[in-house]
Amino acid sequence: MEENIENIRKTLKKYSQEHLLNGYEKLDEAKQKQLVEQIEGIDFELINSLYNNTKKEFEKTDSSITPIEYLDKEKLNGYYKEYQTVGEKAIRAGKLAAVTMAGGQGTRLGHKGPKGTFDIGLETHKSLFELLSDSLKEQGKKYGVTIPWFIMTSEENNDDTVEFFAKHRFFGYEKDKNIFFFKQGELPMVDTEGRILIGENGLIKEAADGHGGIYEALVKNGMTKKMRELGVEWIFIGGVDNCLVKMVDPILMGIAIEKNVTAAGKSVVKANPQEKVGVFCKKNGKPSVIEYTEIPKEMAEAKDERGELIYGESHILCNLFNIDAVERMGKKPLPYHSAFKKATYIDKDGNKVEPDGPNAYKFEAFLFDAFGELDDMAILRVKREEEFAPVKNAAGVDSPETARELYRKFYQL
Ligand code: UD1
Repeated sequence: MEENIENIRKTLKKYSQEHLLNGYEKLDEAKQKQLVEQIEGIDFELINSLYNNTKKEFEKTDSSITPIEYLDKEKLNGYYKEYQTVGEKAIRAGKLAAVTMAGGQGTRLGHKGPKGTFDIGLETHKSLFELLSDSLKEQGKKYGVTIPWFIMTSEENNDDTVEFFAKHRFFGYEKDKNIFFFKQGELPMVDTEGRILIGENGLIKEAADGHGGIYEALVKNGMTKKMRELGVEWIFIGGVDNCLVKMVDPILMGIAIEKNVTAAGKSVVKANPQEKVGVFCKKNGKPSVIEYTEIPKEMAEAKDERGELIYGESHILCNLFNIDAVERMGKKPLPYHSAFKKATYIDKDGNKVEPDGPNAYKFEAFLFDAFGELDDMAILRVKREEEFAPVKNAAGVDSPETARELYRKFYQL
């Protein structure tokens, strides 16, 4: 052990991270072991380069970005039936699995606990998880199948999530038979000097590494293998925070199959240039999404001759992938984006610091950064009021109030 610690100290010195062992002696044996394991698992070169990237400006005039073509579900005319028949056949044959990304906490909503356990305030007081499960079960029934459901959690919320599901008897699903839980990865947080933070428990302060890790997590945790055993060929991946998410859609499936593409994504018309949604586009001729935090103002506001936003196909985190594509994407590392966050930590002298504002970087990969690996992707424009009711903020836009209203309207409650 001692020898091991000496080696670790050498590595830490090389990367100016010696402070990570400052509190080591005070930890109990189990935690000492945990800390050592954490440190051994850190890719310091990666952390260094991520930290250095936080100082680079985003390339604003990216001429490689062009608009993307899309199909409008309302205007498919004769093709509608054709896609429906093909899609339905595949769904009935059990070729579809649903994945819900639920690694986030409901912090922005002021909710303590996994976001999926949030009650949006309907008369039934159903949680987001239950609303999603209701719709998944209902749609499965329509096609005579039980759609297997895969829930992505994070280190932070996995136990609470599984416990919540267990308390509700998995909403009629059977654990490890048709409902599965798997964890996304984590990365250390660093301060403005590039130093990795130690959290209040004396261990490395880590944060979920964004939903871009989903492909790797699906593969590494044996989920795609499980899917193959179940006969699954297509994987729908959606967020937990959209209470109208339509995870089973024969039209989307039919389009992907008929057009022979490896992925198909849904869009809604962007409500206004400032709406906080990413938009589909092409980057170097490949499908992509430009995130709302990164789109230049002129690009967000640009309109075509009909007065429609040129970059107006909002990405609503409703995407369908062929299982081969997921496995392929799971092997390619994605770039990380940094977010400046408020993080309580233990300083080098062992004192707890609770900052008033953001003080540390968190690194996240986005699932759409992998779209460039796809040969092509079909985009289907759907109606916002039928498929997009996100719950993101405690009040105002995309709040429980707006989501409730959309939900009630759609289900005529
Ligand atoms: C996201 C999309 C944006 C899209 C919008 C639609 C990103 C980066 N951007 O924005 O393009 O237009 O939704 O609503 O996603 N999640 C995890 N693990 C993580 C991070 C997130 O599972 O590490 C899950 C969340 O639980 C949630 C979803 O991913 O279900 C979206 O994440 P969030 O951070 O809320 O993204 P937005 O900023 O709302």
